[in-house]
Amino acid sequence: MRLRNVKGKQEILNNHPLIILNPEIYKGKWQELFRNNYPIYIEIGMGKGQFIIQQALRNKHINYIGVEKYDSVIVRALKKINIYIPNLKLIRADAFSIDQIFNKEISLIYLNFSDPWPKKRHANRRLTSKEFLLKYNCIFKSSYQIKLRTDNEELFTYSLITLTNHNYKFKEITLDLTKNREKDHISTEYEDKFVEAGYKVYALSAYRDN
Ligand SMILES: C[S@@+](CC[C@H](N)C(=O)[O-])C[C@H]1O[C@@H](n2cnc3c(N)ncnc32)[C@H](O)[C@@H]1O
Repeated sequence: MRLRNVKGKQEILNNHPLIILNPEIYKGKWQELFRNNYPIYIEIGMGKGQFIIQQALRNKHINYIGVEKYDSVIVRALKKINIYIPNLKLIRADAFSIDQIFNKEISLIYLNFSDPWPKKRHANRRLTSKEFLLKYNCIFKSSYQIKLRTDNEELFTYSLITLTNHNYKFKEITLDLTKNREKDHISTEYEDKFVEAGYKVYALSAYRDN
């Protein structure tokens, strides 16, 4: 993703009610922060936030947390929000530290168009690598659910294998999401671009009992 510097970035980040700049302090306390017992779903690498914002607006009884590594990208997501959304928080964090942020609190992880890291020597940076799946074990609550969408066939195949190796089963596997989108489908910014350009989108929904 191209990163442009956003004017007044720090001020926006410091003052926005939905942003959590020091998420580690809420480890084990996210439910308290939301002040309810609704399940918590996260999107890792939420980008400009279209997907997670729409999910939160549509599903009031689910708490959503968008995780994004770059300030300038988070600010672009914040700029899209003009009302207070009580069931949404956005956090600035590298997914690598996800197990420092949550402790057995998450019911579902969305991975939408995650960076594919095509070189073999970078495989452990893929968000479905063994390294990350082990971290997710520490953050999932009672059962595990991962939903992934990607335009990248290699990342998709790789994820099918790693998830299988970690005892996940598949509820859905779609080789062309554009042909199987439900009426109320919420797309992501990258998905819109790829679909418009005529690319295929692969998707899967995986689960594992604790
Ligand atoms: C290709 S974009 C996809 C954005 C969005 N999910 C979508 O589908 O439109 C990948 C996003 O993941 C973020 N990202 C990449 N690696 C990350 C990491 N380790 N932790 C958190 N965010 C990350 C990038 O900054 C970028 O915003």
